[in-house]
Formats: sequence, C-alpha cells, structure tokens
Amino acid sequence: MIQTDVLIIGAGVGGLSTAIRIAMARPELEITVLTKTEEGESNTRYAQGGVAAVWDLKIDSYKKHIADTLDAGDGLCDLEIVEIVVKEGPERVRDLIDWGARFDKVEEQYDLGREGGHSENRILHFKDLTGWEIQRTLLEKSKEYPNLHIYEHFFAVDLITQHHLGYTVTRLTPTIECYGAYALNKETNDIDTILARATVVATGGAGQVYRNTTNPVIASGDGIAMTYRAKGHIENMEFVQFHPTALYNPAGENPDFLVSEAVRGFGAILKTRDGEEFMHKYDPRKSLAPRDIVARAIDNEMKINGEDHMFLDCRHLNKEAFVAHFPTIYDKCISIGIDPMKDMIPVVPACHYMCGGIKVDAMGHSSISRMYACGECTCTGLHGANRLASNSLLEALVFGQRIAADVVDSIDAWSIKQGIPAWNAQGTTLPKEMVLITQSLKELKEVMSSYVGIVRSNVRLKRALDRLSLLYHETEDVYHHAVLSPQLSELRNLITIGYLVTRSASMRRESRGLHYTTDYPEQLPFIQDSIL
Ligand code: FAD
Ligand code: SIN
Repeated sequence: MIQTDVLIIGAGVGGLSTAIRIAMARPELEITVLTKTEEGESNTRYAQGGVAAVWDLKIDSYKKHIADTLDAGDGLCDLEIVEIVVKEGPERVRDLIDWGARFDKVEEQYDLGREGGHSENRILHFKDLTGWEIQRTLLEKSKEYPNLHIYEHFFAVDLITQHHLGYTVTRLTPTIECYGAYALNKETNDIDTILARATVVATGGAGQVYRNTTNPVIASGDGIAMTYRAKGHIENMEFVQFHPTALYNPAGENPDFLVSEAVRGFGAILKTRDGEEFMHKYDPRKSLAPRDIVARAIDNEMKINGEDHMFLDCRHLNKEAFVAHFPTIYDKCISIGIDPMKDMIPVVPACHYMCGGIKVDAMGHSSISRMYACGECTCTGLHGANRLASNSLLEALVFGQRIAADVVDSIDAWSIKQGIPAWNAQGTTLPKEMVLITQSLKELKEVMSSYVGIVRSNVRLKRALDRLSLLYHETEDVYHHAVLSPQLSELRNLITIGYLVTRSASMRRESRGLHYTTDYPEQLPFIQDSIL
C-alpha cells in the first residue's frame, strides 16, 4: 500500500502542470504522479502546431479568440469557461516560458502561427515539435521538487470509492468520494492500493478506439472509463475530432503521423489527385476552415472520387522556410518517398481528439468529491461540439493552475481513508489466449471506424451498439477469470469509450459540430445536454 497526499494519474501537460504547482505551493505535501509507460510518453509529446494564446494585444484581442472558440464549438461551448481559458491562457504560457520552454521567434518577437478557425496569428510553437518541448520543460521543472515523485510503469486500474468499502454506489448517489486508485505495478505485476487525500485524473485521450488515429498507443481513455465505472458524470462523448490531415501511409502505422494544420496556415492547399482545389465548395475559409468542416469535406471528396486519400499541395512554398518550420514533417515525408517540394502529400482524416470526457466545473472538480480531472480526459465546456485548433494545451495549462489552487485550499480538510481492502485477485489465472484480447481490440476499432466515424446514421449506430454489447460481455467474462494485465485493462476501457461515444451519438438527434448524422442533418434550435 502507498499513501500520499495527492495522487495524480497522468504525466502529460495536464498532470505535470498540476503537480508542479501543488509542489511549489505546499512543499510539505507528498505528490505522487503515475504514468503507465515512460515519463516522456503522452499525447502532449506529439503536439505539433502549438499553443493558442492572445499574445500581441495590438493585433489580436481576447474578444476575437473567444469568438473563434465559440464559432468552432457550434453552440455548445460554456461562455464562462471560454472566457476563463482565453483570458488566463497567456499568463500560463508565460509561466511555461519562465520554466524554460522555447518558442520560435523572428528577431525578438514570437513567430505566431495560424491554424484552422483562428481569425488571427496566435499560435506559439517550437518548430513542429511544440509538444515535445512542453513535455521536456515540465519534466525538467518537476525534478526541482523533492516532494514530487513520478512513478513510471504504474497503470491505474480503478478509482477507489465507498463502493470498495461495501456500500452501494450508483450514478444517483449524492456524494461519491474518491480515496485513491488501484494501480498495476508493471515491474512486479502486483496491483497496489494507492490511498490519497485528493486525486487528479489526467490520463489524456482515447484515440486508440479507432483504426486510424494520430494518438499514441497509450491513448486508451483509461481515466474516462475508470470515472464512468466509479459512477462519475461523463459528457459530450459524441464529439470525436478527426484531424483532416494525417499522412496517408499505404504501409499502415499506429499511430498515424500528423501533418500539422500549421502547414495549411503556412499556405499549403488541399487538392484532389488532379490538382483541383475543392474546399471553396464547403466553406469560404477554404483549407483553413474549422476541423469538422475540413474533415467532412475530405471524407466527402474521397467518396465522390472513389479515393482513399486526398492531397496537400506544398509545392509552391519556399523550401528553406518549409524545412525550417516543419523539419519533422519534411523528414517523415521523405522517409516514405514523398518530397513535399515536388509531390503532393497524401492525407486522410484520422481520429485526433476527444472533446467530451469527465464533466468538470471551473475549478476542475468532477462529480466525485475529492476527485479532480485535467486535460484531454475532461469536458470543461471549452470545446463544445468541436475544439478549436491548439486550444487543448492551453486548456490543460489553465486548468492545471486552477486545480492546484483548489487542492491547496481544500486538502487540509481531507484525510486518508482507512479500511480500504487490497485488490482482490482470487480465482483468476494467467490468460491462456492473448488472441482473445488482440482480436477483440481489432474488432472494436473496425466497428467504431465503420459505423461511428465522421458520418453516422441510426442504422450504423444501432449496429455498432449491438456489436459493442457482444464485445463487452465476452471481455467481462475474460476479465473475471484472468489475472489483470495492461492489455486487458485497456481493452475494457476502450470498449467503455466505444459505448459512450456510440450511445451519446445515438442520443443526439441532430447534426452539430463533429457529430454528423444522415438521419438528422439539421441542427436543432435548442441545445441538448448528454450527461451520462
Ligand atoms: P497526455 O499528454 O496524453 O498524458 C496522459 C498521461 O496519462 C500519460 O502520462 C499516460 O501515461 C498517463 N496515463 C494514461 N492512462 C493511465 C493509466 N491507466 N495509469 C497511469 N497513467 C496513465 N493540442 C494543441 O493544443 N496543440 C497542438 O498542436 C496539438 N497537436 C497534437 C498533435 C498530435 C499528434 C496529437 C496526438 C495531439 C495534439 N494535440 C494538440 C492535443 C494535445 O496534445 C493533447 O490534448 C494534450 O497534450 C493532452 O494532454 P493530457 O495531459 O491531457 O494527456
Ligand atoms: C496540428 O498541429 O494540426 C494539431 C493542432 C491541434 O490538434 O490542436
């Protein structure tokens, strides 16, 4: 058993920025951060385009960033949260710079990039490696605090609540409390009980529920699924963001490599194989329209032209400047035989970001007492029905600071819960057939990609729910008899994510933002809530 003051599950931008601020404010508190693989591996690390922030008030304004965020969010953003994130964001980015983060400059000024849906250049970036730079900075900063401990290869399996003390807990129980988590120590294969006075879930996204995704393999929605099992509130799961331009690689790879939207901000144009532009047919902002519009347009053009990808034309751009801005993208294209200065880059939409997740308030409280959530696993109200590009790193930085402030104020009233039993592994044996797990994962991805993708319909969603139900029952059967492994736990979590996305999509009888269904192509005049 491990006892700690604060347990933070996740070491990306959400988890680390929260941890650093608590460690800084209260050196006497012990902060334990879990990461299920190495400390540097996260969605954060792969962020390319950058972090959006109103930087130069002479050319930009909070009002414009707020308007762009609301426009992308298609009627479902929470205005209070949008204002908080946009107005506090620049200060949080400045903190990051003070902690050592480097962003590209032209002479002495920050080189602000542009991405889809933004009316101004406001994206701070470090070449096409912004996430790597942020992850590096946060990890280095976290090493300055002796009260902050990062445990690598610790896989959180379930949140601990009154349920583990034998009480019945339902989604209607008024005060569910979180006392920590059970976590699989991947080195010993033991499931440890980690008790904490406060718990922060910062486990990132769930892109691995689809066949094609830009998300690394760690993105299996563990925090959202654990919170759902603990009967916490989950919201807006139907809004799955597909990035319009993942690199189409016929060899197939997981994850798909991203060709940043910043490349379109730099002047690249979407075209068909024949070199015809098509985005003017869908939106006056053409290749720089918000992501939902561009991804649907590409999907439609692929269907019209009978193609499995479209193209991004960079051939008219200056080679030296392109390579300086996008060295990783350039090298990756060259490595698969495409020279972006001579060939059009083949691109295809891929699952990229979960706009929904654990429902939290303005201070990051989930519906479960003593449990906060931060980053991509949350639904704060910022993104609504579609996230504006480069707003998620910003959201995690702003909420990290808010959660830390709340934990610091509240924690003295909370103590470690006594009487929590150890994990019960009685009656389980080592799984004899790993194929049951790997094959079910493949089936899940196929179901989600075929029936719950960019374009949905009642028939497809019904078919998906039927298939998911079968996968759920088969997997629960394996779970009750097998020793728990990260693979089995991730499969269970991804099936839960698949169910939440599909069920939320079935409940929304309109098309809005990232959710498009051929049965209800119009938007309803009122706003629906879908708290699950
Ligand atoms: P992550 O960074 O994913 O961190 C999750 C952490 O949780 C990891 O440490 C992981 O090990 C841990 N974890 C997960 N499950 C468990 C478990 N069961 N037990 C223990 N630990 C666990 N956003 C932008 O704003 N700008 C961009 O330019 C941008 N580009 C992107 C490019 C790519 C290719 C991708 C994939 C995403 C991009 N995004 C971008 C989105 C953004 O990177 C993420 O939303 C953000 O980094 C998420 O941060 P996080 O802290 O919530 O989660
Ligand atoms: C990109 O660089 O295109 C990704 C930006 C984001 O997801 O916010």
